[in-house]
This record gives sequence, C-alpha cells and structure tokens, in this order.
Amino acid sequence: MDLDAILKQVSKAQLLSIVDSASKKIAVWFGSVSAGKTVASLIAFLIAVRLAPRKGLIIIVGKTLATIYANVFVLLQDRDIFGAKISSQVIYTPGATSAIILGREVLLIGANNAESVGKIQGKTVVLAYVDEAVLLPEAFWNMLVSRLRVDGARLLATMNPASMNHWMRKEWILKAAQKNLIAFHFTMKDNPRLPAGYEADMEAAYTGVFYDRMIKGEWTNAAGAVYPMWDEKRHVIRFEDMPRIAQVLADGIDFGVSNASAALRVGITREERPRLVLMDEWRYDPRDHHGATLAPSDQAAMYRAWLREQHTPYEAFQTPTYNIVDPAALAFTAELRKFDEITVQGAHNKVLPGIATVSRLLANDRLIVTDRCKGFTTEVTEYRWDPKATAEGEDDVIKEDDHSLDAARYGIHTTRSMWQYDLEAA
Ligand SMILES: Nc1ncnc2c1ncn2[C@@H]1O[C@H](COP(=O)(O)OP(=O)(O)OP(=O)(O)O)[C@@H](O)[C@H]1O
Ligand SMILES: [Mg+2]
Repeated sequence: MDLDAILKQVSKAQLLSIVDSASKKIAVWFGSVSAGKTVASLIAFLIAVRLAPRKGLIIIVGKTLATIYANVFVLLQDRDIFGAKISSQVIYTPGATSAIILGREVLLIGANNAESVGKIQGKTVVLAYVDEAVLLPEAFWNMLVSRLRVDGARLLATMNPASMNHWMRKEWILKAAQKNLIAFHFTMKDNPRLPAGYEADMEAAYTGVFYDRMIKGEWTNAAGAVYPMWDEKRHVIRFEDMPRIAQVLADGIDFGVSNASAALRVGITREERPRLVLMDEWRYDPRDHHGATLAPSDQAAMYRAWLREQHTPYEAFQTPTYNIVDPAALAFTAELRKFDEITVQGAHNKVLPGIATVSRLLANDRLIVTDRCKGFTTEVTEYRWDPKATAEGEDDVIKEDDHSLDAARYGIHTTRSMWQYDLEAA
C-alpha cells in the first residue's frame, strides 16, 4: 500500500483536510477525541515530507519524547492504517531523539516547559509536525513559527480544544487569514473506522466542560462549579451502609502546614457493578486547633496512628495498598517513608485529568462517599473554576478549601489502572 491506497480509505473530512492543508503555511486539526485528526494530519505530513525542500530541518514536536512515540509513531508504524510499504519506512527506536521517515531524518523535540524554546532557537525548520499543540508553551509555538524561514516551510498540528481564551484559538485560529493558517474542526463522525458503540462509550466517559471539548470538540471555558453533578442524595451514604469492600486501594493524602492536611481512603466495592467509595477521612486543620500548626513529623505520626486504629466493621481489617502523597510534600513524604507499613507513592497531581476522572465517576454514579468524609462533602459544593485563569485562557481551580478534594483526587486518579477495568467492564 502506498499513499494513494491510504487516501482511498479516509473519510471525506479527512480527505478535504489533507488537500486543503497544503494551501497554507500552517494547518491545525482540532476537535474531539478519536476523530481521525492524527491520521489525517499524518497523511498530510507524509506528503509534506516527500515534498519538503532539502534545506532545513524536519521536526516532530510533542510534550515529551514518550508522548510523541505513543501518539505519533505507534500510529505511523501501524500497518493496518499506513500499510507495510510506508510503515517500514518509519524507522524509530523509542527514546531516540531522531527518526528516519521516508528516507529523511526527522528530529524529535519534547517541549514541556518555557526552557524548551532553546531547543529550536537559531534553527531553520522546513517542516514541523506538532502533537497536542495546546499543551505547548505559547513561547515555544511562537518561536517555532519564526523558525519557518525557508520558502515552502510548513507547520502541521493537532489538538483537543481548550478554553476559549487559549492563545491557540485567540491568536491563531481566530486570526487564520492574517497568519496564513487553515483550521479543521473534527468530531468522531469524521473517523471512518470507529468501532460500533465506541462513540456512546466515549460520550459516557466525559461530562461538563470535558464533554464539550472532548466529545463536541469545541473550545469551551471551564466556569462555575467544578463538580456541578455533585448531589448529596445521590453520592453520600452512611458509613454503616457501605457496601462490602473488595480492596482498599489507597489513601490519597494532601499535606499542609498552615493549611489543612487530609487523607481520603479509596476502596472498590464487591458488587456486581463495582463502585469506588471514599470510605473514610483523616484531617488535621489548624483552624480546628486554635491555629496550632504541626510539623511534618508530628503529622506523619498522627496519620500513622489513625491508620493503626482503623477497624473496619464490614470486613477483615485492611490497610490501604498505597499511600499516595502530594509529590510536593517532600518532608512529609520522607517522614512517612520511615514507617515500614506505609507504601508511599507520589500522586499523579495534574489537576485537569484528575478532575476529569472524578467528574466522570460522579456523573456516572461510579463513586460514592460515606458521611465520615466531612471535609470532602463540605468542600465539594464550594469548589469553583478560577475566572482569572479563564480570562488568560487557562484552566485552573480556586485553590482554597480544596484539601480533602485534592487528597481524594490523588487517591482516585493515581490508582486508575487498578480500578478502570473492573468499573468499566461491568
Ligand atoms: N483513515 C483511517 N484509516 C484507518 N484508521 C483510521 C482512519 N482514521 C482514523 N482511524 C482510526 O481511528 C483511531 C483514532 O484516530 P486518530 O488517532 O486520528 O484520532 P484523533 O482525532 O487524533 O484522536 P485524539 O484526540 O484522541 O488524539 C486511529 O487510531 C485509527 O485506528
Ligand atoms: Mg490524536
């Protein structure tokens, strides 16, 4: 199979985008998940590699080398999509910073912070492919565009939409004509190979702002309540009524000195359709103790005492498999590591993916909370997106009274590989 054969099996939207992208210097594909953006843009990229002038670099940019491999090379090397003839001309060893594609050398660049700009400063780029462009620092994108100095230089990029004020939308997509840019909006309907039922599954997997972005593929602001689906009647149960627990997965722990510390225990039920439960909560809030702050060592000792005094009436005594701690809490983590029975694990603490996970569970009634988790149930109704971040095109939450929420998010999101299958297969 060669490029002509591949072009015969694309959707109409994919084909049009591949053709039209060639008319502009910059082409961006944005839209919902699994919409066929990456496949379409990679076909356009392969054509551009064939046509690229010999002078100047060809680069592939992503957040990290690992994401470039997972999102770009896995697809390029998929013979069912690109055919053996093309896939065999994509030569790449995971971890390497260069690849050979259709006989041309291609450099791989991870751009996950402001300093990454240095990696392309002073270079001349003839062709660039950018994966997940909205996750790049704006300065990197601007620098990249300024590197497209040769005649016929091109830039192709894909992304899921972010906030309406995101620099990509405001400065580039809305100013397309002026920037010599063309933008394509894809949804799952534009993917010619979506398995039956997949779209419905994905629709159930996202809610609120994440639904608008990942399913509708629209630029949307995160505003108002972070967990608008929270409903005490639906989500809170009495501790005494907790279903049988199959496994205590983790305690998620947020640590503070002048702010509250909290640990939220996450269990998975032994039900026909398993659910996650926030079973119990430990908190130390100086505000409840006349402002008395406690050192990390004292708090670690208190938390350990709480662990030991646990007697779960519904099942044999179980301790959490993991104790998942905010990775920023270095001193507290070091104290916990002194205790043999505590298995400290750094939390996956990226706010947005964690909130998306918790939202999805709440919206689909896959997470319940016992009335012992008072910090959580108090904070959850007050949790708001930050309008100041929204104005700057970013997504952030107002960081006050979010300690039990953070602890629960760490515990739930970090352990997702332990429960995902059981919850979703049922
Ligand atoms: N023309 C095509 N031929 C064969 N398979 C395709 C085609 N278009 C899409 N697919 C299949 O659909 C999957 C999803 O497409 P793609 O990776 O391009 O989506 P995407 O819009 O980039 O999604 P995401 O936002 O999740 O990255 C691909 O991995 C591939 O298996
Ligand atoms: Mg993609």
